[in-house]
Amino acid sequence: MLAPTVLSSSAQPTYDAFSARLIAWQRQHGRHDLPWQNTRDPYRIWLSEIMLQQTQVSTVIPYYARFLDRFPDVAALAAAPLDDVMALWAGLGYYSRARNLHRCAQVVVDEHGGVFPDSVDALAELPGIGRSTAAAIASFAFGVRATILDGNVKRVLARVFGVEGFPGDKRVETAMWSLAESLVPGAEASDADVTAYTQGLMDLGATLCVRGKPECARCPFADDCVANTTGRQRELPAARPKKTVPTRRTWMLVLIDGDAVMLERRPPAGIWGGLWSLPEAVNEAALAERARAFGARGAASALASLTHTFTHFRLDIEPRVIEMDRVASAQPAAGDAETAWVSLSDIDSYGVPAPVRKLLDGLRGSLL
Ligand code: ADE
Repeated sequence: MLAPTVLSSSAQPTYDAFSARLIAWQRQHGRHDLPWQNTRDPYRIWLSEIMLQQTQVSTVIPYYARFLDRFPDVAALAAAPLDDVMALWAGLGYYSRARNLHRCAQVVVDEHGGVFPDSVDALAELPGIGRSTAAAIASFAFGVRATILDGNVKRVLARVFGVEGFPGDKRVETAMWSLAESLVPGAEASDADVTAYTQGLMDLGATLCVRGKPECARCPFADDCVANTTGRQRELPAARPKKTVPTRRTWMLVLIDGDAVMLERRPPAGIWGGLWSLPEAVNEAALAERARAFGARGAASALASLTHTFTHFRLDIEPRVIEMDRVASAQPAAGDAETAWVSLSDIDSYGVPAPVRKLLDGLRGSLL
């Protein structure tokens, strides 16, 4: 659950200090010589941002160079056959990016006269460009005060400002967008400042505030970062919550005759398909009904319930024991070819599901 307020209250850097400090840090310690830096060409910036969406810098660099060699501008890319684009993309993965890239180039040529729009909203309308990518392009190419919020930035913000909750959660993400927007430098910032700020967010997340072992000692926010000052670097940002699996409940009949128990073969499909298990019912009354059909007269006593976890659900098992007061052991139950009386010492030669075997092992121990 998300706390009522996602921001913890103590020791946060003030918002103004955040952008000023980040810009100063980026100028001194950030990255300045990546192939897509030191240009304002939106085509080159757009191409890099799409390639960098799910791929790391070192992998992207050679692809980026080959791409620009073959398609030096948006018109060249738009005019190329899709097959050529795909061939140059081969190995980068996430191929919908390449298809969208090609479509985007065609839209820019056909609908924008071959010129990339300069607003975040217009960029975000183009194929393959989401809100954060649009903001990155707008800030790098046009100096627009727009905020990015990719995985790295979410990690930085969650740690520095102590944002609780899983960032993939809609409410947490919405809060992070608001926070990120409030941090963007104001009107006093130059275009170069805006570029340094956006690049600084990326650089901090990629070089110091990394997932595994962040280098807090070198971080410009070390003194006020919530994660660092409270030792919660490993807890922030919060991990994806474990999926809650549904629980099913079943009643199992442990029909005992001497040292034998009645097993029933399960249907071929579904869980434990074809294995030998205990007769089951959906509730206590239905189980009693089944017991009577097997000729049992005695009262049922409850054994401790047990739980078995499958990948998609949890099964709570309610075992009920009834001792037979007639019918010789080693006889199949009347009229049912799929049941068998099996000596408790002979269970191992039947294919019995693990939790049922465990249950029967316990029973054997108590009967012997
Ligand atoms: N990841 C996404 N955009 C990037 C950029 N412009 N520089 C470095 N890494 C990035």
